Amino acid sequence: VDIGNGLTNRQFHSAHEALLDILVIFFRDQKLSIDQHKDFGRRFGKLHVHPNAPLLIEGHPEILVIKADEKSKHVAGEEWHSDVSCDPEPPMGSILYMHETPANGGGDTMFANMYAAYEALSAPMQRLLEGFTAIHDSAKAHHYRVKATDRADISFPHAEHPVVRTHPETGRKGLYVNRGFTARIVQLKKNESDALLEMLYRHIETPEFMCRFKWRPGSIAFWDNRCAQHHAMFDYFPLRRYGHRVTVCGDKPFYRA
Ligand code: SIN
Repeated sequence: VDIGNGLTNRQFHSAHEALLDILVIFFRDQKLSIDQHKDFGRRFGKLHVHPNAPLLIEGHPEILVIKADEKSKHVAGEEWHSDVSCDPEPPMGSILYMHETPANGGGDTMFANMYAAYEALSAPMQRLLEGFTAIHDSAKAHHYRVKATDRADISFPHAEHPVVRTHPETGRKGLYVNRGFTARIVQLKKNESDALLEMLYRHIETPEFMCRFKWRPGSIAFWDNRCAQHHAMFDYFPLRRYGHRVTVCGDKPFYRA
């Protein structure tokens, strides 16, 4: 498909079905203007504006710039996470369009399947987790942004979400805690919560749940934040990597037995 030209209804339905089936879909050799990128995102829902990322492209608050170069001490998404899970209604999906890749061949993104992670747990562990909720806190992931933006509407949200989330479209259950944002399990004592979350974070990192994408300039990855986590590899310092992310709004996570 040529996303810049706009998707036919049929192409839109196959992309949507593929996203629900396989959680992250990839497109090669695309050429998109900022408006075409936003139009593609809008086919799937209203566009999300990040609560605390700096506004880097005037007139386009919906574009999150993903950029690293010789000045970068860290990059966005270096921990396993689901985008902005600290929002009361976290984004359903994210569409990253890569403009420049590092010359050393680094800068891959890894993705992990949270249905598979949940389904691989023992039945008693599944039952235990199904009663729990957890606090997701942007202060954990984005504390370094406090001084880094001049946005007047900046906020650092936190929210309480079920530890096991039912996907609103597929009805499948997946683990919904992540190292990037999840601070604690509400129903447990701190030491119990820390230990259980650490066990789950390690479990989520099981290689069998993952795939790894090698970017080329013009590649797009579109992932479903409701059932997948991702991790950006920062193995290319001091080289440059540059892309734009459009993020599609989602709904309030819930658990249904
Ligand atoms: C992110 O959206 O978390 C960044 C992913 C990446 O740069 O590969």
